[in-house]
Amino acid sequence: MTARIIDGRAIAAVIRAECADRTRRFEERTGIRPGLAVILVGHDPASAVYVRNKVRACEAAGIHSFTHRLHEKVENEELLNLITRLNADPSVHGILVQLPLPAHIDMARILETIAPSKDVDGFHLYNVGALVTGNTVFSPCTPYGVVKLLEHEGIPVEGQNVVVVGASNIVGKPMALMLMARDATVAICHAKARDLAQFTIGADILVVAAGVPGLITAPMVKKGAVVIDVGINRLEDGKIVGDVDFAGVSRRASHITPVPGGVGPMTVTMLLVNTIESAERFYAAQRTAS
Ligand code: GUN
Repeated sequence: MTARIIDGRAIAAVIRAECADRTRRFEERTGIRPGLAVILVGHDPASAVYVRNKVRACEAAGIHSFTHRLHEKVENEELLNLITRLNADPSVHGILVQLPLPAHIDMARILETIAPSKDVDGFHLYNVGALVTGNTVFSPCTPYGVVKLLEHEGIPVEGQNVVVVGASNIVGKPMALMLMARDATVAICHAKARDLAQFTIGADILVVAAGVPGLITAPMVKKGAVVIDVGINRLEDGKIVGDVDFAGVSRRASHITPVPGGVGPMTVTMLLVNTIESAERFYAAQRTAS
C-alpha cells in the first residue's frame, strides 16, 4: 500500500480563498473589516517567522492586522495594559499573543486577560472549559486545522479509534477533545509512554504532536491507518521533518500528511477563520444590543 498524501497547502489555499470572499462580503454588508492584533515579545527567530506568516495571510484575506512588538524584558504590567486596551478596541476582533513568552512573563495571567470573545487562539481558560463541555467558542487553530483536513479528505471520525501522541495544551489535549466531540474513541499518549507502539498500532487515525523526529515508525502503525503528523522539527542539517518516518509509514498508511506542507499551513488558515467568525459575532451582538 502507498498512502495518499494529504496536501495541506492545497486545502489551506481553498479555505483561504473562501476567507477572502467571506471578508469581502462581510465588509460590503457592514462596513467592518475584521481585525487581528498580534503581540510578539522578544526576538525568537521561529516566532518572528510565524508572526510574519500570520500577518501576510491576514493581508491576503482582507483582514486588518496590528502587530505589537515588545522588548523581551517587557514588564508583565505593560503587556497586561496593552491587552486591556486591545480588549476595548472595537477595530480588534482577535488578539493573539505569540508563544513561547520569556520566562519572567506570567503566561497564564496574560492568556486569561484576553477577552474570551477575542481569544481566537482558544487558549483562555474559559475557552478551554467550553471546549471540554462541547460549547466551543474558538477551537485552537492547529487541532481545528487537523479536523478540517480530515473533513476535506472525506475521512470519517465517528466511531473510529483515534490515538493522539503528545499531550500539550496547544495541540494534543484540545485535539483529543475535538475528536471526542465528533464521537471518536480517543486515547491520548505522552511521547514518553512506555511501549508507545502498543497504543499506536490500534489506531484507525493516528495524530502525532510530540516534537520528536522519527518517533513513529512503520511497525507502530496499523495497515490502512490515517496518519496526521503535527511535528515540525529542524534537524542539524537544516532539514525540516515531522515526528513520523514518512517514507516507511507511507507504505503502511492509507493517508498521510507530509512535513512541511501538511498540518502547518492549516494553523494560520484556521486563525483567519476564527478572526472572521469573531468579527461576525461582534457585529451580530452590536445589532442585538441596539
Ligand atoms: N506558538 C506555537 N503555536 C502557537 C499557536 O498556535 N498560537 C500562538 N499564539 N503561539 C504559538
